[in-house]
Amino acid sequence: MNDTLTLTRPDDWHLHLRDEAALHSVLPYTARQFARAIVMPNLRPPVTTAAQALAYRERILAARPEGSDFQPLMTMYLTDNTPPDEIRRAKEAGVVALKLYPAGATTNSDAGVTDLRKTYPTLEAMQREGLLLLVHGEVTDPDIDVFDREAVFVDRVMTPLRAAMPELKVVFEHITTKEAAQYVTEADRFTAATLTPQHLLYNRNALFTGGLRPHYYCLPVLKREEHRQALLKAAGSGLPKFFLGTDSAPHAAPLKEASVCGAGCFTALSALELYAEAFEAIGALDKLDAFAGHHGPDFYGLPRNTGTVTLRREPWTLPSAVPFGEAQLKPLRGGDTLQWKLVA
Ligand code: NCD
Ligand code: ZN
Repeated sequence: MNDTLTLTRPDDWHLHLRDEAALHSVLPYTARQFARAIVMPNLRPPVTTAAQALAYRERILAARPEGSDFQPLMTMYLTDNTPPDEIRRAKEAGVVALKLYPAGATTNSDAGVTDLRKTYPTLEAMQREGLLLLVHGEVTDPDIDVFDREAVFVDRVMTPLRAAMPELKVVFEHITTKEAAQYVTEADRFTAATLTPQHLLYNRNALFTGGLRPHYYCLPVLKREEHRQALLKAAGSGLPKFFLGTDSAPHAAPLKEASVCGAGCFTALSALELYAEAFEAIGALDKLDAFAGHHGPDFYGLPRNTGTVTLRREPWTLPSAVPFGEAQLKPLRGGDTLQWKLVA
């Protein structure tokens, strides 16, 4: 049994850092685990312009712990009204991608897109300038069952989008179903997907074990075991189109443990350890390095990181809560013993 794992210094290709005190609370965890992260733009109000993305980047850099070289990779929030002109300014500002949230799909997505066709001139500009489109892949039609929203999105949105914009690089974010895994597996080299630790480790039973478990609630919601198996197969396949994106999404504990619970799992504290657990469970630890450190930068057209990080097989207990501004934040699996540990 292998007790040490050395990985290329990895990146997180889907992360929520929030702002102000919350940003200061969570950034050190990610900066310890990852060299770079794709930072989601769903602040209130959302990051919709290049100027806002630049300003947010400065706030993130200023919040880094002493000595950290962590680099945020900035994104903008696509709306029905993002002007095609803004794409050139975005590129000049170093923005790498725009995020598509169908209006109302998830946390802070009210400003999202109501009809993708409205954004086609902007998507054409992105295709031209080489900016990526990151997709929250769920339809929001209230007639569609919550557990079917991703599969329906594949047919209703992904297929027409790919046909209309064949050379736009698209990341199907945090996929949760066998339909999405199959779609991405069969797609050409312009389509990729990120996978979260929670969707690799848990099926929807985790939401209901011994009572309702708000800290396991994220969007897209956890699915049946057959879907989790399809995601594990995708992760362990070694295919370059699947890579790491935690979707770590902090919400203050009182907002999770409320009659209406916000969607999001906080995993930044132990992301690599959770992925190692998932890959080990399918005998694919040898595939973790490329998944965490190669496939993402290759797809984005960015250099891979130099340097390595080390995980050791060493049981440790994940804190059950950590400070989050004035409040507390409860990590997924808080209080549990994890088998792998990132060595400082
Ligand atoms: C995210 C958040 O809290 O910002 N929540 C989540 O459940 N993943 C939003 C998102 O990425 O959907
Ligand atoms: Zn997210």
